[in-house]
Amino acid sequence: MIKRVQAWLGRKDGQQPVEISPDNIPRHVAIIMDGNGRWAKSRGLPRIVGHQNGMKAVKRATIAANDLGVEFLTMYAFSTENWKRPKDEVDFLMKLPVEFLALELDELIEKNVQVRVMGDADALPAHTRKAMEEAVARTQDNTGLVLNFALNYGARKEIEDCMRSMGEDIRAGVLSPEEITSELIDSRLLSGGLPDPDLLIRTSGEMRLSNFMLWQVAYSELWFTDIYWPEFDKTHLLQAVAEYQRRSRRYGGLK
Ligand code: FPP
Repeated sequence: MIKRVQAWLGRKDGQQPVEISPDNIPRHVAIIMDGNGRWAKSRGLPRIVGHQNGMKAVKRATIAANDLGVEFLTMYAFSTENWKRPKDEVDFLMKLPVEFLALELDELIEKNVQVRVMGDADALPAHTRKAMEEAVARTQDNTGLVLNFALNYGARKEIEDCMRSMGEDIRAGVLSPEEITSELIDSRLLSGGLPDPDLLIRTSGEMRLSNFMLWQVAYSELWFTDIYWPEFDKTHLLQAVAEYQRRSRRYGGLK
């Protein structure tokens, strides 16, 4: 059964219908939210205004994914490399999850959303860690969309930590090299328990992975758009899902 969804396909394309099949919704969508700074610059605004508007797009994407029946939504909010930015910008980015949760947590709870976080929490400022921990605790029994924030996350560090833990277990004699499988690695990554992303979206025209979920995106469908993250709304998610549904996923096999 094909459900016809009317949506704007970007400002230049005018209004065109998007065909979305409810039978083939990606279970896990991961998003590299890029272009906040350029969005702000193109309007003569400070970069932090771009991030502030990026936060509003997080809300729109969450609601749209939830409405569409996506089960897991992972958002790349801060990478292990983003500490290299000026302190003022880092401080602002660390306040955004606090602000977002203060504004939106009640509605997320109402919508049965479960908040998760993956990344090195120990290095986060106390206010950021506390807000995230509270959101995770208050939503842990929710059974709807899993909204997973990658915060102080880097895939190479994630893989390095996973390998170190296996090395330590081998040294302690509780793991043998033969027992190392893809499943074991999956379970020891920060995303443990989540299925691999089916669809990876990156905004702002950049076409790279930037140290995001390098193990998990092995067979993800990639969708890139030129729009900047603060412009992202439901129609862009629908466009991405429509394109996802046109792809033939073969996992190295034949159709
Ligand atoms: C990349 O754009 C974006 C980031 C490094 C930060 C992403 C964060 C948000 C969208 C807000 C997060 C909100 C919550 C609720 C956690 P950029 O600044 O690198 O853009 P540029 O490449 O144009 O400079």
